Parts: sequence; structure tokens; C-alpha cells
Amino acid sequence: MVDMVKIELGKECDIDIWMYLVNKVKENFPGLETEEALYEHRNTVLDFMRKKSAICAKNEDKLVGILLFSKDKNLLCFLAVDPEYRRQHIAEKMVSYMLTFMNSHKEIAVTTYRDGVPEGVAARAFYKRLGFVEGKLTEEFGSLVQEFILKI
Ligand SMILES: CC(C)(COP(=O)(O)OP(=O)(O)OC[C@H]1O[C@@H](n2cnc3c(N)ncnc32)[C@H](O)[C@@H]1OP(=O)(O)O)[C@@H](O)C(=O)NCCC(=O)NCCS
Repeated sequence: MVDMVKIELGKECDIDIWMYLVNKVKENFPGLETEEALYEHRNTVLDFMRKKSAICAKNEDKLVGILLFSKDKNLLCFLAVDPEYRRQHIAEKMVSYMLTFMNSHKEIAVTTYRDGVPEGVAARAFYKRLGFVEGKLTEEFGSLVQEFILKI
């Protein structure tokens, strides 16, 4: 099944299937609780798509993984894989593809839930496996989060 999955840049015409996946995983993200927040997020995704900073994993017509990143800030901004497609190295492939667009002389940062928060268990294990190390404890949309840093 995973052989059919293609990693590519997300295009504006993909926005509806992109948001379908966001709706499926929104409980894992602080700041996506309301319809207004989701609408704002949709516009944010369109901006990232226009800047060629949105990556998706496609299984035929279905999006099974999504990633947003900032080239200017060397930030991984958003990452999710459809629950039915997890543990098939789809997120890993999207991150590898993202790295081809990043400044390889600067460290890359991502923010995720702090240790002990159930929604953050998979993400923390994933980032550690990829070589990210724990960084600053911060807050985002009122949630307690932590930075993870990929050193060069
Ligand atoms: C985190 C997430 C993106 C990982 O996606 P994924 O495609 O399942 O990850 P991969 O298959 O590429 O995982 C690569 C490795 O990371 C580690 N890993 C991933 N998920 C893990 C989990 N739930 N528990 C322990 N280790 C895990 C494993 O070492 C895995 O390799 P293995 O399966 O050969 O052991 C996915 O679980 C997800 O969408 N979670 C909800 C949203 C989220 O938390 N996003 C990040 C917020 S910043």
C-alpha cells in the first residue's frame, strides 16, 4: 500500500482534500478547535501552497500526509499523517523531502506537546527517532509545548 504513496508539493487545487485530513487530525493540534480557526488555517495552508512550502503524501486521489514548513525561519510548522496510514514511514519521507528545500547550515525547529501529554507521544517519539533533540519549553495557543531542534 505504501508503495503507492507519492510525496509532492501541495497545490491550491488540493485544498479541500488537505482540509479533510486536517479535520481528521485536528484534536492533535492546539488552535484548531473552532470553525473560525479552521477557516483561518485553510487560508494559511493556501499561503504555504503558493510559497511552495506545503508537502503532501498522496495515495491516488487521497491525501494521507501533510506538512507545512518555513524556508525563511527553518521551521517545520505542521505535520500529520492519516491515522490509518501511520507507522509506514510516510512522515519520515515528507521530512526528508522538506530538508531538500531548507538551508542545510542552520538548525531546524519544530514545536510539539510537552512530555506527558497523550496527544504528543507519537510526535515526540517520531522527532527523537529522526535526530531532533529537546529544546525550550514554551506555550502555543494556551497549550504547554516544547521545541525540538534538528542540529546540523
Ligand atoms: C507524528 C506522526 C506525524 C508520525 O507519522 P508516521 O508516518 O506514523 O511516522 P513514521 O512512520 O515516519 O515514523 C518513523 C519512526 O518514528 C517513530 N515513531 C513514529 N510514531 C511513533 C509512535 N506512535 N510511537 C513510537 N515511535 C513512533 C518510530 O521509530 C518510527 O519508525 P518504525 O515504525 O520503523 O519504528 C503521526 O503519528 C501523526 O500524524 N500524529 C498526530 C499529529 C502530530 O502529532 N503531529 C506532529 C505535531 S508537531
